[in-house]
Amino acid sequence: MFRPLPDSSEGPTVTVFVEGQPVEAYVGETAASVLLRHLGTARTTSISESPRAPFCMMGCCFDCLAEIDGKGSTQSCLEPVRDGMTIARQMSARKVVAR
Ligand code: FES
Repeated sequence: MFRPLPDSSEGPTVTVFVEGQPVEAYVGETAASVLLRHLGTARTTSISESPRAPFCMMGCCFDCLAEIDGKGSTQSCLEPVRDGMTIARQMSARKVVAR
């Protein structure tokens, strides 16, 4: 469904891990675009658990919240990929760990 524009798929790449699977990503693209390309969604809502996909791609809608490098509720559209980055969908509400 989603694919990079022809001229954006050239250039250096890094390897990120989307829900444990190694995926090639282009330097400069965001974790949200990787999620769109490989899974189609980023999270589910906390009440009805309906699926959500990145929408605005500029930090306004919060529909791209995902777990990036183990940190939940991260706006994946604002996170450029890094080599070795881990990306996972955030299902339901972010888990709170009591100390
Ligand atoms: S896609 Fe809207 S805040 Fe990230």
